[in-house]
Amino acid sequence: MEVEDAITTTIFDVGVAAIAQRSSEVRVREMGFKQQRMEEETTTKVITSTTILPSRNEEKEKEKQEDLCENRGRIVYPKAARQVAGNSHKHARAARVDACGHFYKPTDDTRKGMTELQFYENWQAMEHERVPEFSPFLATFVSRTVLYESRDAAKPMPFLKLRDVTADMKQANVVDIKIGERTWHPSHDAAYREKRHRGDLETTSCSIGFRVCGMLTYEEESNTERYWNRKWAKALNLETTTTGLDVFFGQNSERITNVLRKLKDIRQSLEMNPFPVFFLGSSILLCYDSSDLHSDVRVVIVDFCNAVKNKSREVDRNFLDGLISLTNLIERIRDRVRVRMDPTSLSTSSSGLSTAGTFNPNTPSPSSSK
Ligand SMILES: Nc1ncnc2c1ncn2[C@@H]1O[C@H](COP(=O)(O)OP(=O)(O)O)[C@@H](O)[C@H]1O
Ligand SMILES: [Mg+2]
Repeated sequence: MEVEDAITTTIFDVGVAAIAQRSSEVRVREMGFKQQRMEEETTTKVITSTTILPSRNEEKEKEKQEDLCENRGRIVYPKAARQVAGNSHKHARAARVDACGHFYKPTDDTRKGMTELQFYENWQAMEHERVPEFSPFLATFVSRTVLYESRDAAKPMPFLKLRDVTADMKQANVVDIKIGERTWHPSHDAAYREKRHRGDLETTSCSIGFRVCGMLTYEEESNTERYWNRKWAKALNLETTTTGLDVFFGQNSERITNVLRKLKDIRQSLEMNPFPVFFLGSSILLCYDSSDLHSDVRVVIVDFCNAVKNKSREVDRNFLDGLISLTNLIERIRDRVRVRMDPTSLSTSSSGLSTAGTFNPNTPSPSSSK
C-alpha cells in the first residue's frame, strides 16, 4: 500500500502530466497483474479440491516474499554491488537490487530519464513483436517505480525496475563496453555535445569505436571479486583494452565463441530491422558466472538515456561500426587464446595476430559525426 501511495506522492511532486499518466498506467498494470494472479489462485483452489493447501508457515513465507518483492515494508534495498559503471557511481543516487532478482536504475523526469523510459515502454508495447529475436539482448523491463533511498528519506525516488542480469550468478564477471565512436548526436544540445565529444576523444571511442567503462572479475585464487574502476577504464588504450578483455574472458575460447555468436546476431538484427532510435552512449554488458565453466554468457544492451529518434529507421552506423570493431577485437583475443592452448594451431590459424598493431576497426565516420 505504501508504495502505491508513494507513487501518487511522486506524481504530484514532479507535477509532470506525462509522468503521472505513465506511472498510473504502470500502477494499473501492476494492480491488474496482482488481481489476475489472485483470481487465478482462487480459481485453482476452487476447482482442484484435491489440491494440497499450503501450510500456514508456507503461506507466511510466501507473503513475506511478496512483501519484499513489492516493497510493502518501506525497505531500503541494498546498493547494487555488481554495478561496474554508470552515473550512479558519481552521484549520490545508487542503483539498487532486491532479493527477487531485480535491478533498480535511478531515474528522473529529465530528458534522459524520460528517453530511457520511453525506449523500454515502446519495446514492451510494440517493438518486441516486430523483432522478437532481439529479446535476449535487452534486460527485461518491469516498470517505473519508486523506492526509499534511506530510512529517514522524506519521500521515495523514481527508479526503472529491470531484471538483474547477474542475479542468479554465483561468481559474476561483468564488463560494460560503451559502443560507438560518437556518444552524442547533432540533435543534442551544444554543451552536451561538447562534453561527450571530449570524453570520446580522451578514450578509445574515437580511435576504435568503443570503450570499456568498468569491469568486475572473479579471481579464483583469492576467491574475491575484483573491480576495475572508472579511473582504470579511462586510461585504457587499444593494447590495454585487449589485455583487459583477455583477462575478462579467462582463457575460455568456448565462452568467447558464444559471445561472438551473440554479437553477430545483434548485428544482423540491427542491420535487418533498425530500431526507431539511434543508440548513443549505450553499452553492451557482457556477464557470465565463472563458478560454472560452461555457463552461458549474457550479452545485453543497456543505457538508453541518450537515444535519439530515428523515425525513418536508418541503419545505426555509429553503433554498428562500433559493434563490428569490438567483434574484430574479440576475434583476435579468441585466436590468441587458441594459440596459447595449442601453439601448433599458429600455422593454420587465420588469426589477426599477424596484423597486431594494425588493428582495423572498420569504422568509417558517419558524415554527421564531425
Ligand atoms: N539490468 C541490469 N542488470 C544488472 N546490472 C545492470 C543492469 N543494467 C545496468 N546494470 C549495471 O549498471 C551499470 C550502469 O548502467 P547504465 O544503464 O549504463 O547506467 P548509466 O545511465 O548510469 O550509465 C552497468 O554498467 C551495469 O553494471
Ligand atoms: Mg551507462
